[in-house]
Amino acid sequence: MCGIVGYVGPKSTLDVLIGGLRRLEYRGYDSAGVSVISPTGHLETRKKAGKLVNLVAEIEEHPLPAAHIGIGHTRWATHGAPTDGNAHPHLGGQTQKLSLIHNGIIENFAELKAELLAEGTSFASETDSEVAAHLIAREFEKTGDLPSAFASVVVRLHGAFTILVIHEDQPDVVLAARRNAPLVIGLGDGENFLGSDVAAFVEHTKRAISVGQDEIVILRADSVEVRTFDGKTVTHEEFTVDWDASAASKGGWSSFMAKEIADQPQAVADTLMGRLNSDGSVRLAEIDGLSHEDIKNLERIIIVACGTASYAGDIAKYGIEKWSRIPVQVELSHEFRYRDPIINKNTLIVAISQSGETMDTLMAIRYAKELGAKVLAICNTQGATLARESDAVIYTHAGPEVAVASTKALTAQITAGFLLGLFLASIRGAVPAAELQRVGLDLLKMPGRVSHVIEGLKQAERLGAEMANAKSVLFLGRNVGFPVAMEGALKLKELAYIHAEGFAAGELKHGPIALIEEGQPVIVIVPSPRDEDSLHPKVISNIQEIRARGAKVIAIAEEGDNQVSSYAENVIFVPECETLLAPILTVIPLQAFALALSTAKGLDVDQPRNLAKSVTVE
Ligand code: G6P
Repeated sequence: MCGIVGYVGPKSTLDVLIGGLRRLEYRGYDSAGVSVISPTGHLETRKKAGKLVNLVAEIEEHPLPAAHIGIGHTRWATHGAPTDGNAHPHLGGQTQKLSLIHNGIIENFAELKAELLAEGTSFASETDSEVAAHLIAREFEKTGDLPSAFASVVVRLHGAFTILVIHEDQPDVVLAARRNAPLVIGLGDGENFLGSDVAAFVEHTKRAISVGQDEIVILRADSVEVRTFDGKTVTHEEFTVDWDASAASKGGWSSFMAKEIADQPQAVADTLMGRLNSDGSVRLAEIDGLSHEDIKNLERIIIVACGTASYAGDIAKYGIEKWSRIPVQVELSHEFRYRDPIINKNTLIVAISQSGETMDTLMAIRYAKELGAKVLAICNTQGATLARESDAVIYTHAGPEVAVASTKALTAQITAGFLLGLFLASIRGAVPAAELQRVGLDLLKMPGRVSHVIEGLKQAERLGAEMANAKSVLFLGRNVGFPVAMEGALKLKELAYIHAEGFAAGELKHGPIALIEEGQPVIVIVPSPRDEDSLHPKVISNIQEIRARGAKVIAIAEEGDNQVSSYAENVIFVPECETLLAPILTVIPLQAFALALSTAKGLDVDQPRNLAKSVTVE
């Protein structure tokens, strides 16, 4: 978590830093701060607890000099409360000429701090990060060589970190180091950038380089040098960012989340683009790294992910298993990593992550690779660590997702998961090609149907706003509707801070029905009445059972389902589609419901309390 940005070049550094932090604020918003070196060679720092607006106000009150080099940070607190003092940057050394920002956790900070305290160093904060600032300043005072002082300290740090440093005595260089935390370089003309992700600088340049694990960057206006921690020069291929800077702005919407919900037809269409032939067959050139032989030999797929991405995995599982007949298991990355899972070279790990930087997911794939598994990523962020460390990547082309609660990334992930299922199935040949192509053709129609759902969201928004005082909302689903129910509940927890649970409707009588009392709101994802497994009547019976006990039912059902209206107080209809593809549609009213309920409670929908979008610590 935490967002970092660095700049050296002719532009107004403060504008570059604040603009970058604004785009990175989704990574944490407990405090923010910047340091710049003025043309007369003075290091100046401003920092403030709370969101970026507080820092901007502080700078208005105490302006910073024009500068051409600087670093900026937006924090999600780990060590030390979110106060002004604990905000980054942290200054190092007796003379306080060094400024440092850090994303991650320095696990051995207590031991390093003891060493500094014994030498009489005094600390201004409770953070682990300040230790690194003092250590680097101390080494620089000894040798006068900033890059080597920096390198000698970063190798001593354990844990996860991206660290950026500037020093008054070397006013033309930003130093950066990366281990287990993200860092991307933006290449400009006579200027260069650093950021936690490309969003930090995409309005200035689309040329980028991902920094590798255990590497140091020496960034000047006219040069960029990357070295390993042990001093070897490395070169990385440059890539072009395909995000449009305007895509990362609200563009007139009341919130990023509202905009990102509305972006979904495009997100799904872009994720499908170039991957489905007009006859409904799938081509996935990205996974050429897996030979047909590898795919035929697969014994098992394990999907690893966290949060909303894990529900994308739960949903994709239904399609992948049904079409390819490969057993699929979905695991939360943090649980998977620590339970000694059975993996071999015929296991395919599919890691799903919007950011591609979720530490638990990265740890899971590293572990699986050690055991010989192949890793395929479904990822939304170019240059992300997950993409780099995987054998193959299917990019979801949802564009930048800024609101903490994931919306368009989810529908794009589900879409990519279904494409993967159809592709694997076409090679395995367990299901007739015509059946797969029928589903593929239906998938092609999903963007239009998503638009239709979005045009009709008023009803879900009204119902959400009406429930602003609800203490708890339950969600029921069956089959592929079950993970949709869990995602609906997660959205309410994240955004509205109320108790919400998603249950498998078949489990109702095994416990959850005891929660039902007069007036309890329950949102039920109703399967298609055309479903061949006759799940529809079973869910209708569940609705009757809970209504008999006082539940207030909102159903999400397929257009043309004539029965459901007689059983539910409110029905939100979504268009007909292949039954397994329905989650791409049914999840959208739940997003709008949570957004409206949270807004009616006066909460910050884009930056809910205690959360960060990208969880880059374990
Ligand atoms: C956080 C976010 C969620 C997201 C999850 C996984 O918890 O708040 O919205 O689903 O991380 O993130 P990823 O970037 O790996 O998809």
